[in-house]
Amino acid sequence: MQYLDLPAFAYAPHVVRSQQFNPGDLDHLFRLVEEIRKRPDFFSSVLADIEVAILFWEQSSRTRTSFQKACQMLGANPLVVEDMTKFSSAAKGESLADSVRQYLAQGYRYLIIRHKDEGSVEQAAGVAGPGNPVINAGDGKGQHPTQTLLDLYTIWKEFGTLERPLIVGVLGDLLRGRTVHSLVYLLGKFRRVQFVFISPPDSRMKPDLLEHLDRHYVPYVEHTAGDLRKVVRDLDVLYVTRPQTERAKDDDEKATLIAQYQSFIVTDEVANAMPKHGIIFHPLPRTFEIPTEVDKNPRARYFQQMENGRFVRAGLLTWIKYLMTA
Ligand code: NCD
Repeated sequence: MQYLDLPAFAYAPHVVRSQQFNPGDLDHLFRLVEEIRKRPDFFSSVLADIEVAILFWEQSSRTRTSFQKACQMLGANPLVVEDMTKFSSAAKGESLADSVRQYLAQGYRYLIIRHKDEGSVEQAAGVAGPGNPVINAGDGKGQHPTQTLLDLYTIWKEFGTLERPLIVGVLGDLLRGRTVHSLVYLLGKFRRVQFVFISPPDSRMKPDLLEHLDRHYVPYVEHTAGDLRKVVRDLDVLYVTRPQTERAKDDDEKATLIAQYQSFIVTDEVANAMPKHGIIFHPLPRTFEIPTEVDKNPRARYFQQMENGRFVRAGLLTWIKYLMTA
């Protein structure tokens, strides 16, 4: 893999939050992803000598299977524990740190972790040390950096670049949704991006992220009410997310969240109010926030996003392997 000549990204080999990457890194990653798509055979044994463990303390469909597929594309045969809370000693009260030690002791070298607690995957990376990459596949309300990599790859494929003026609407549960946190941190590094945050009043973007944007002079506006058709009129991208009801404090908060969401449903009429070239994203799973009628709208890209996931994750794993052996 010498010819690839990839730079180290910050905090490598671990991937814990999206802002450890910068625009230049994404250029390298996306070109690598294109190579993998074009010449899969050339990459089919990149991870043949690596034992990978995919350890999930929280439910998942896409992220888990696409990581599994990515590993298989690269010649690894990963161990997958889809519910650590049931099928591991976590059920007996074992800590995440001790779980990490246990998998490393058995010879697993790369750990892909999803956990319910914000910050936990970073803690796991500290335990694993620099010789054993730990990848965050979602940590509670915190981040989901690999989702962002595939989101940005999908935008890059669509527009050919991320270095152009982009008005990005981010709609939904911006307080509790980890995908949008990662998205905004990384996309905010592109100098010509402006954000339009659209959410129910109790689910506004978390304050520390807004302060971060202020500090870095990233332009944004917020909407917590109003006619959605007007709000989406100038958007190049509309990124929709579901209410994160499982992260609500109690039943009251959950009921309020769902009630407030009713005026933020992206119907076909709302979709059609976007510019012709505008595209609609969703990390999935969806609940009621995008009715299925929108699937046929030419702006819908959420199934494409889903398909891109395994290739982008294969690109990331190839990059990490390169850095570990270079
Ligand atoms: C998301 C997640 O797990 O954060 N799903 C995903 O990984 N594609 C989004 C969500 O659960 O709402």
